[in-house]
Amino acid sequence: MEKGDTKWFVHDRFGMFIHWGIYAMPARHEWVKHHEEIPDEKYDIYFKHFNPDLFNASEWARMAKQAGMKYAVITTKHHDGFCLFDSKYTDYKATNTPAKRDLIREFVDAFRSEGLKIGFYYSLIDWHHPHFTIDSIHPLRNHPDKEKLNKSRDMKKYTEYLHNQVRELLTNYGKIDIIWCDFSYPAGPKRPAGWIGKGRQDWDSENLVKMIRSLQPHILLNNRLDLPDQWDFLTPEQIDVPEPLTVEGQPVVWEACHTFSGSWGYHRDQESWKSVDVLIRMLIDIVSKGGNLLLNVGPTGRGEFDNRTIERLTGIGEWMKRHSRAIYGCTKAPDEFKTPKDCRLTYNPETKRLYIHIFSWPFRFLQVDFGDRIEYAQLLNDGSEIPVKKVEYPYVRSGKEEEIVMTTLFLPVKKPDVCVPVIEVFLKE
Ligand code: GLC
Repeated sequence: MEKGDTKWFVHDRFGMFIHWGIYAMPARHEWVKHHEEIPDEKYDIYFKHFNPDLFNASEWARMAKQAGMKYAVITTKHHDGFCLFDSKYTDYKATNTPAKRDLIREFVDAFRSEGLKIGFYYSLIDWHHPHFTIDSIHPLRNHPDKEKLNKSRDMKKYTEYLHNQVRELLTNYGKIDIIWCDFSYPAGPKRPAGWIGKGRQDWDSENLVKMIRSLQPHILLNNRLDLPDQWDFLTPEQIDVPEPLTVEGQPVVWEACHTFSGSWGYHRDQESWKSVDVLIRMLIDIVSKGGNLLLNVGPTGRGEFDNRTIERLTGIGEWMKRHSRAIYGCTKAPDEFKTPKDCRLTYNPETKRLYIHIFSWPFRFLQVDFGDRIEYAQLLNDGSEIPVKKVEYPYVRSGKEEEIVMTTLFLPVKKPDVCVPVIEVFLKE
């Protein structure tokens, strides 16, 4: 089957993930229904009172854009089953809460008009649907009558619902650039004994993919449908990916997703927020290994990005304003360029420019091992020249004194006033 065209995706490199739903109200993790084993009757209180009166999709879109993000992926439904969109297959949706609107429609219109590409996250898991069988991660997993309850559940009916909803999402909102299905957890050697999970049979993944590709042939599909080779990109989650990802030795397209603080949904009391500095390094590090970053925001129950989020997005945007050409269109540098100490390299194969991201500012000199390839170098933040000279250094090897010649970049003593300074290198033809 034809796959999606990842050309724009590997160019754009940086997107916004949005986890939003009624779990923003308990404000203590989007898995709260699972963690606290909350039954529907109790969880319903959030549905009853969901009223994001400050939600302004255009403001969100502007913030994403100013941060330098080029696409956005929003949770149309998360594991709790609540739908932000107006689905005709359920009553459990935003239009039936005090919000009274299709929030996905507003998101799509606003982000599209800012020129951002549109992605839909859709949870395969559904802890609200009456036919989704109780398994090892279901909020009712410890219910004394779970076997009995499961007898009245018919997973096939849920699978049909899932397919119907994905069809709606890919039919009613125009061109969708990404579909992000989440996630499969079949039994396997890494699972505890007695694990009851779900995978490709439960979702009828084969047919789901066929439908997705036939409705939106250009769409990019992630890799969480438990099908080995029908995806367009891999999705390592909240980890520091050590090297470019490959499958059977071949490089593949990948997108790391990360949170600001650990939780995806709005979490009021979590204190483990990453700094702007860490987030910028994260983005650079990922691009230097040929990946994308999908950075998550968890808007509040009233529909806003909180101040911690705004501060991060603004800080990243400040840096991106002057350094985005070291990110867009860039990837891992060719092997002939050795990464200098405390640095990361990115490279734009079209413009043939190399970018040295300096994570730790050295004293005056940066030695590089780029052969004779440098034509001109400048600091990217202000376009000021960085002189490049060959310098002879005295060196003692096996007790013998010798001179070694190193290409040296002459840096200002003071670190430029940006999070991560970047040197743009114009290479000789
Ligand atoms: C996990 C979590 C989920 C989150 C997702 C993002 O699969 O279940 O809460 O939406 O990762 O990658």
